[in-house]
Amino acid sequence: MSDTNKQLQEKIAQAKLGGGQKRIDKQHEKKKLTARERIEYLLDEGSFEEMGILVTHRTTEFGMDTQKFYGDGVVTGYGTIDERLVYVFAQDFTVFGGSLSETHAEKICKIMDHAMRVGAPVIGLNDSGGARIQEGVRSLGGYADIFYRNVQASGVVPQISAIMGPCAGGAVYSPAMTDFTLMVQDSSYMFVTGPNVVKTVTNENVTSEELGGARTHATKSGVTHFTASNDIVCLEQVKQLLSYLPQNNQSKPEMLPYELSEELREELEAVVPDSSNKPYDMHSVISGIIDEESFFEVHKDYADNIIVGFARLGGRSIGIVANQPMSLAGVLDVDSSKKGARFVRFCDAFNIPLLVLVDVPGFLPGTDQEWNGIILNGAKLLYALSEATVPRVTLITRKAYGGAYDVMNSKHIGADMNFAWPTAEIAVMGAKGASEIIFRREIAAAEDPELKLSEKEAEYAEAFANPFKAAQRGFIDEVIQPKDSRRKLMKAFAMLETKNVEGPKRKHGNIPL
Ligand code: HXC
Repeated sequence: MSDTNKQLQEKIAQAKLGGGQKRIDKQHEKKKLTARERIEYLLDEGSFEEMGILVTHRTTEFGMDTQKFYGDGVVTGYGTIDERLVYVFAQDFTVFGGSLSETHAEKICKIMDHAMRVGAPVIGLNDSGGARIQEGVRSLGGYADIFYRNVQASGVVPQISAIMGPCAGGAVYSPAMTDFTLMVQDSSYMFVTGPNVVKTVTNENVTSEELGGARTHATKSGVTHFTASNDIVCLEQVKQLLSYLPQNNQSKPEMLPYELSEELREELEAVVPDSSNKPYDMHSVISGIIDEESFFEVHKDYADNIIVGFARLGGRSIGIVANQPMSLAGVLDVDSSKKGARFVRFCDAFNIPLLVLVDVPGFLPGTDQEWNGIILNGAKLLYALSEATVPRVTLITRKAYGGAYDVMNSKHIGADMNFAWPTAEIAVMGAKGASEIIFRREIAAAEDPELKLSEKEAEYAEAFANPFKAAQRGFIDEVIQPKDSRRKLMKAFAMLETKNVEGPKRKHGNIPL
């Protein structure tokens, strides 16, 4: 081996050791994988090609010129997942706590630029103490260079952020601008200011876990879309998520081979209860329609009165948005509207057809909702669906009341195919509320007002608590038997495969943020 070759091998060996064996052992003690182990697990075996392994930082202050580590705290490059090209960066906590220097940022920007030119997803495995303190504004600038690219890449290539360690300060904003965030329980957290600053400013005592741990962001803030019990589960989730997505906004998700058979699903006949006010689990409708075990739920623990997630229907990747009667009777409120809108916009940006399952009694009333902007937030979902140009199919299983009927992918806002089960109730409001308003005088004048009200309710329900008025007007294309749903939906999506709609020419719309 020549001297230069020997030198190179030594440098690479050093780079692979990151901040040293001791720090690697510490990472393992915390039940965390190292950056390289994570990449190895994530990518197809032997597919990783590293870029910039010999990069070092350029800082001289604070004795930094004597502390240089090859790679500078981040492993970057490309490889494949299920034979599909992806770009990946993994921050190496063993080197200055994975903190982001100017050169560390340059490495990340380089793979993001590649991803944009080539049209492939970017996956970030974050484990970092934030901006490298010794570098001051140069590291802040490095973050901003990444933020800028996050925005340029948004809607062009899928961007996925796995948070596998601390993520503090402005550093949280890069994941926030990517499409999906995953967090590992008990070893990751995200916050703009940590518990110490919180204590100083607001006098609150809070732990890192409470303030910004995986459970907090999965249930309270909605910042994370997925949580995982450990690094391996998290990386598996990244792979699964990717399997539903296309490489970029110019391509479609991979269609898995599927042979059409009878497709009848008898179990769907019994899902909707006899009583209109009894809850049922919309997951049973979803699983009765889609390919077996193909549902990959997004934002599972957040705003569970709406369900969103990816699934396969006859091998085709679709996005599902569904009201959940089991939670708050499936109403639309601030959080569920935001959750739905964000998911719809992702699917629309990446050519993933949408199936909307409707059982919604309306918007949630109350001061809490009004003061928290249900008007603006509800409008987000309305806006997102109205602007979506991917194939859009609706199935009303039971209630579709009031403004929520319009919002939940009605024909009027551009849905392509609208189906309803015979149990559908499509009206301005429920029978009781409606009767109390429109038959007020008659009820008040009656000898037995209660009896009159129930008679009027029955009259109203007979007229409106069904899908037929809507079907007569063509707002519903077909009233179908529940057991036929799968076949009907598969055929509808196949028919819409080549849908091509261009919106009006404009710079961009102004979604009510
Ligand atoms: C330089 C850092 C660092 C940083 C950690 N290290 N964070 N070095 N810049 N930001 C170094 C530590 O000095 C230590 O080096 C090694 O990494 C491991 O850190 P520990 O503290 O020993 O690890 P741990 O106990 O696990 O704590 C991890 C931590 C803590 C919670 C992340 O290190 C921490 O609070 N760091 C600072 C976080 C922070 O405030 N960052 C700035 C955020 S503001 P040695 O040599 O001792 O092993 C920001 C602005 C972004 O990011 C702007 C975008 C707009």
